[in-house]
Amino acid sequence: MAKTLVTGATGCFGRAVARALAQAGHLVTCAVRARPGQPAADRAAALGLPGEVVEVDLLGGLGALHHGGWARVVHAAADTTYFAHDTRAQRRINADVAAAVLRATSPRTFVFISTAEVAGTRSGRILEAEGDVGQRFTSALQESKLAAELLLRRDAAALGVDLRIVRPVTAVGDTGSAPDAFTRFTRLLPEVAWQPRYARSHLRVPGVKDAPLHLAPVEWVAAAIAALSAAPAAAGGTFHLTTADLTQDQFFTALAERYSFPGLRVAQPRGARPSARTRLEARAHALLARHLDELAVHRIYDDRHARSVLDPLGLTPPSLHGPALHRFVDALAG
Ligand SMILES: NC(=O)c1ccc[n+]([C@@H]2O[C@H](COP(=O)([O-])OP(=O)(O)OC[C@H]3O[C@@H](n4cnc5c(N)ncnc54)[C@H](OP(=O)(O)O)[C@@H]3O)[C@@H](O)[C@H]2O)c1
Repeated sequence: MAKTLVTGATGCFGRAVARALAQAGHLVTCAVRARPGQPAADRAAALGLPGEVVEVDLLGGLGALHHGGWARVVHAAADTTYFAHDTRAQRRINADVAAAVLRATSPRTFVFISTAEVAGTRSGRILEAEGDVGQRFTSALQESKLAAELLLRRDAAALGVDLRIVRPVTAVGDTGSAPDAFTRFTRLLPEVAWQPRYARSHLRVPGVKDAPLHLAPVEWVAAAIAALSAAPAAAGGTFHLTTADLTQDQFFTALAERYSFPGLRVAQPRGARPSARTRLEARAHALLARHLDELAVHRIYDDRHARSVLDPLGLTPPSLHGPALHRFVDALAG
């Protein structure tokens, strides 16, 4: 089995992908930076990361990554702050450092974990083959990830590296990190649903009822990334990872039923002036702030290429309908 380096191995995707690769029999090395008073090896042990550990701060020189002999690198390290204060520093770690890691390791295969959000504010069907089409962004994070894709394509072509770009939608479930926005929103409901003062309250989520809701279980995303990193059919490809058959209305209706909270529904804002929000809505919308722009557009991430590789491997994107949706909601509720 090829030796694989996973950067960002302490993060949500990095640790899940490292585990999925190790379970599939790959020899894994986890790149981990030290924390004050905590060497990388201790952090890795505390998290139960598989394989060997290489200690490296990716902003502090990449000497530790030279001559590692990794045939494959899965690059998951990033500054994932959605509204970063220092956007130049974010672009440096997310784009410039990603390209530097590719050059330093020069593997046969480099898997870059990008994001479906490189589509920016576009609506409609987004193809996996599309990259920079002059789209606008709501966050410097999204912009830095597209910049990374462009730099990596240039350097991979120059070095003859098989570059694979995966673009997951928001991962939910047991991410090992702080709960994501949808999980926190879900957990707000039992807190308020039983209180008489909220019993008749509106809880309108500004969105588009029949638009897909872009969520995917983290375990499936990690398994798909591990598979795409090794499958010969994935060479040179770009892949959307999404479970696109779940609509916004289906998801929020399932939550409303689960918590007997009829005031919860998707409401399409009319006109430029939003209607006055209840206090509960202000609180709930603050939890979803990072996703409100995405909820406002009808967008489909075309994932035909991803499915063409994943279907034969038994990793078809999970369908979140009927009982599966109820299990998914239960899992979010914790
Ligand atoms: N999670 C999602 O829902 C989602 C969805 C779509 C795309 N993505 C993309 O997937 C990638 C990984 O996301 P994530 O959610 O796993 O992020 P995360 O949980 O925030 O993890 C980020 C990782 O990067 C590491 N890192 C940051 N700066 C570093 C540095 N200077 N040196 C070494 N390591 C450094 C962090 O290490 P420390 O632990 O030391 O800080 C951590 O391991 C990102 O590019 C993100 O945009 C994520």
